[in-house]
Amino acid sequence: MLSTILLLGALPFATASPLASASSFAGSTETALYPPPSATFSAFDTFFPDAEQVGFAGPTPTGDEAEAVATAPAAPQKLDTYPLLNPLTEHTGETPSFNPLRYWGNLSPWYSVGDAFGLPDATPQLPKGCELTQVHLLHRHGARYPTSGDVPSQFAEVVNKAATTTGFEASGPLEFLNTWTYKLGAELLTPFGRQQLYDLGVAFRVKYGDLLKGFTKLPVFRTTSEARMVDSALQFAAGFFGVQTYQQEYYELIIIEEDGFNNTLAPWNACPVSNGPLYNLGTDAASKWAAIYLKDTVPRLQKYIKGIELNVEDVVAMQELCAYETVALGYSAFCDLFTEEEWKGYEYGNDLNFWYSDGPGQPTTASQGIGYVQELVARLTQTPLTSFETSLNSTLDGNNVTFPLDQPIYVDATHDTVISTIVTALNFTSLAANGPLPTDHIPKHQTYFVNQIAPFASNLVAQVMSCPASAVTSSRSSSKESYIRFLLNDGVVPLTGIAHCETPNKFGLCPTADFIKGMQQRIAEVDYNFDCFANYTLPMPDTLTNGRIIQ
Ligand SMILES: *[C@@H]1O[C@H](CO)[C@@H](O)[C@H](O)[C@H]1NC(C)=O
Ligand SMILES: *[C@@H]1O[C@H](CO)[C@@H](O)[C@H](O)[C@H]1NC(C)=O
Ligand SMILES: *[C@@H]1O[C@H](CO)[C@@H](O)[C@H](O)[C@H]1NC(C)=O
Ligand SMILES: *[C@@H]1O[C@H](CO)[C@@H](O)[C@H](O)[C@H]1NC(C)=O
Ligand SMILES: *[C@@H]1O[C@H](CO)[C@@H](O)[C@H](O)[C@H]1NC(C)=O
Repeated sequence: MLSTILLLGALPFATASPLASASSFAGSTETALYPPPSATFSAFDTFFPDAEQVGFAGPTPTGDEAEAVATAPAAPQKLDTYPLLNPLTEHTGETPSFNPLRYWGNLSPWYSVGDAFGLPDATPQLPKGCELTQVHLLHRHGARYPTSGDVPSQFAEVVNKAATTTGFEASGPLEFLNTWTYKLGAELLTPFGRQQLYDLGVAFRVKYGDLLKGFTKLPVFRTTSEARMVDSALQFAAGFFGVQTYQQEYYELIIIEEDGFNNTLAPWNACPVSNGPLYNLGTDAASKWAAIYLKDTVPRLQKYIKGIELNVEDVVAMQELCAYETVALGYSAFCDLFTEEEWKGYEYGNDLNFWYSDGPGQPTTASQGIGYVQELVARLTQTPLTSFETSLNSTLDGNNVTFPLDQPIYVDATHDTVISTIVTALNFTSLAANGPLPTDHIPKHQTYFVNQIAPFASNLVAQVMSCPASAVTSSRSSSKESYIRFLLNDGVVPLTGIAHCETPNKFGLCPTADFIKGMQQRIAEVDYNFDCFANYTLPMPDTLTNGRIIQ
């Protein structure tokens, strides 16, 4: 066994070993069904009474709520991805600290980004003297299978077609392909994805649980109707409240996500232009870049394959398969095929895709994100929404049962491409500080990274707190004021690009009243009707940096 490992580890990457023969099932799709269709749940229920029927629960005194953001001396860091196996071959880690999982764009598991957004003195812990009054969480679903019909399954079809028709054979580092099968479904949350949301719920209770004392009725949390969205929201709630009781401790509002339905957490359905040709800006930019960064990779890998003529898209698919197989199956043989530089190239392809299709370079982005901003302002000011001309749904947003305004804690579940539109709508201009992303090289001082904005289980937290002005600004006044700030994956985001929040603050704070004024101005400057409904083209090159065409 040991000698086999050594032998494989010593295989020179540049020389092909003799071709091994491929199985005809290579690339075929495998699925499983659990529970077994013959199993019924009720047959044995008299043998397995539930906890209440059994009784004998032991002592159950409740302790106090935690508020670690105020009581702990330092912020905990989310860094591990157990039980995923981190690819650790000689080819993936030229820099000792290099972690390929951080270079998968929106397929990276989320991690604490530290001071990535440029505020070295700010951490998620409340500045001394401040008291938390409210928290707003917007989170992405956890790790999922690929989107239906996306490039990973297309690549599997290419392999399978070759295996059954053209004498496909793979060798060397690609030898595994001879017996590789496609085990990924589509769209659904993976077990690791469930864990991410459960963990997020637990962490949120530990950091912010004390705010539950401010509720007089049950909280309403929100998600959208897709299976992985509902699953993610329930996992969060299970982590936050506990599995025995969570279904009785809050309400989950499930907002329909489908063509023709308004939904601030899935806004593209209410923004026709965002589903038209302008949406291709991102994929066009990413393919231009892929042709450059994978120029030498395609011929390098081709040496080990007979029966398929590899192209750039196939190799991008192999990089995606590394990410998707790892977060679904715990390990992927595809990961070991790529170098550090190729992973940085892959991340940058994602950055381009998001920048131009769902970020600052896309003319419908600010409009798509503005519905959530309107909801945030309504919650901060406790003012009911009365005008419904964006992705808001008047039936839900106009009702204080489905859209309460008096909660100390708000939790909303959404998608990667929505978080990226919302941070643009919130005018977090520091993310776009280095301007439009070039398609022919990775810029030196890049500020826009998808692995920091929209990874799996990405989370944007608004902390609202009451602080003596003297504790958080250069003012001498000890009178208390309300401040707000935002943590994107635990990194504090500067708010200085927002009107009325221009004064730099080392904790990332803006007086809440000024932030609200800024957001009201933002809502007024974003032209939803034009951006989402007009017939327009974008002059090329695309130089937008603020998610809207009228600057
Ligand atoms: C608003 O939400 C309600 C409740 O789910 C739904 O019946 C209605 O169709 C939605 N309207 C729009 C325009 O999405
Ligand atoms: C749905 O969105 C459209 C477009 O913004 C808006 O005109 C309409 O009033 C909204 N419908 C509801 C029920 O909120
Ligand atoms: C909710 O709206 C109803 C009907 O408009 C109103 O009677 C009630 O007072 C409102 N409740 C709260 C908590 O604002
Ligand atoms: C948003 O940022 C842009 C710069 O990208 C600026 O021109 C605009 O005034 C800002 N709007 C608000 C309301 O902060
Ligand atoms: C949009 O404008 C173009 C050019 O003026 C025109 O050819 C096209 O038919 C228009 N599309 C729609 C949907 O009105």
